[in-house]
Amino acid sequence: MMKPASHIFAMPDYLQEVPQASKIWLASNENCYGPSPKVVEVIAGALTQVNRYPNEGGYLLREAIAAKHSVSISQVILGNGSSEVVELIARAFLQPQDNAITSAQTFVMYPHAIRSTGAECRQIPAKDFAYDLDAIAAAIDEHTRVIYVANPNNPTGLMIGKAILDPFVASLSSNIVVVLDEAYFDYVESDDFPQALEYVKSFPNVIVLRTFSKVHSLAGLRIGYGIGSEAVISSLNRVRAPYNVNVLAERAALAALEDEEHVRLSKEGNRHERRFLESSLDRLGVRYLPTTANFFLTILHDPSDVAAQLKQNGIVVRTTGRFNIPEGIRVTIGTHEENIAFIEALEKIVTK
Ligand SMILES: Cc1ncc(COP(=O)(O)O)c(C=O)c1O
Repeated sequence: MMKPASHIFAMPDYLQEVPQASKIWLASNENCYGPSPKVVEVIAGALTQVNRYPNEGGYLLREAIAAKHSVSISQVILGNGSSEVVELIARAFLQPQDNAITSAQTFVMYPHAIRSTGAECRQIPAKDFAYDLDAIAAAIDEHTRVIYVANPNNPTGLMIGKAILDPFVASLSSNIVVVLDEAYFDYVESDDFPQALEYVKSFPNVIVLRTFSKVHSLAGLRIGYGIGSEAVISSLNRVRAPYNVNVLAERAALAALEDEEHVRLSKEGNRHERRFLESSLDRLGVRYLPTTANFFLTILHDPSDVAAQLKQNGIVVRTTGRFNIPEGIRVTIGTHEENIAFIEALEKIVTK
């Protein structure tokens, strides 16, 4: 009987719920405002060119990203979503005798990527739902090769401030690759948010991840990127498959980078709706964490039951057991109509 490698056999798969058209989908932290019309036009214009392979490595997009962030093009790598870059890092830097560290309550792609290499995944308990960087530092040993940090974190929406992250990054050995995943960067409004791209200038072991899936509304096209030292990026390019980013995704991302108005509107809508949800949840007495992203982690007594009842009302949210937060439901901030429907349904459930 054929069997996967033993370390793969032990891993859970990532199967999620099947989306249903009639439901209000607040389960995947997508941009609820749809793609920008300008980007849609560019995608439509590129459709006749899908008989051609993409330009290898996404040269044009890497050039635009490098210019935007004032780095060299050889410091940028594209991925089929930033999730692919998460995996490339694990593949390039981890062997079965190594370990990689992250929080116990974070993006599930990190343990997935680490374990698929056969390396040990050290998931360090969070402290009041936040990354416990002191405990992570204490868990480092001579076999530690990679540390993954999501900032802001998924599923909590919490961010790590400069005063905590700056000394942590500076304290790490340059033998350890530090991944700072900033998928929700654009939604953060705090002045205390760290300048992770500045770390890249001083620390060759730091790689910053960004994505087009969130504020740029391109989750379905799968495109994200990493910025790091030439040494880190060149290691990732060794394990990257050729043409990993498709023609439509590259064209769309190029147009999305230029469409500052879409980004502005998405951020503004998110800010407005975040306030609406905060005041509504306060009114209902539902506990939630102070989010800096486009979703909320709510804390409830019986999250599975609440999620099931929401679903009966046509609203799909994400329970957070898989993130080691059994008491949570993660809710994406939707359009005003979606958020009203969510709050009305939740109100019926919690006031029953
Ligand atoms: C923290 C974090 N990083 C990365 C991603 C992945 O984004 P992408 O769609 O670019 O693979 C997500 C997606 O939800 C996320 O929550």
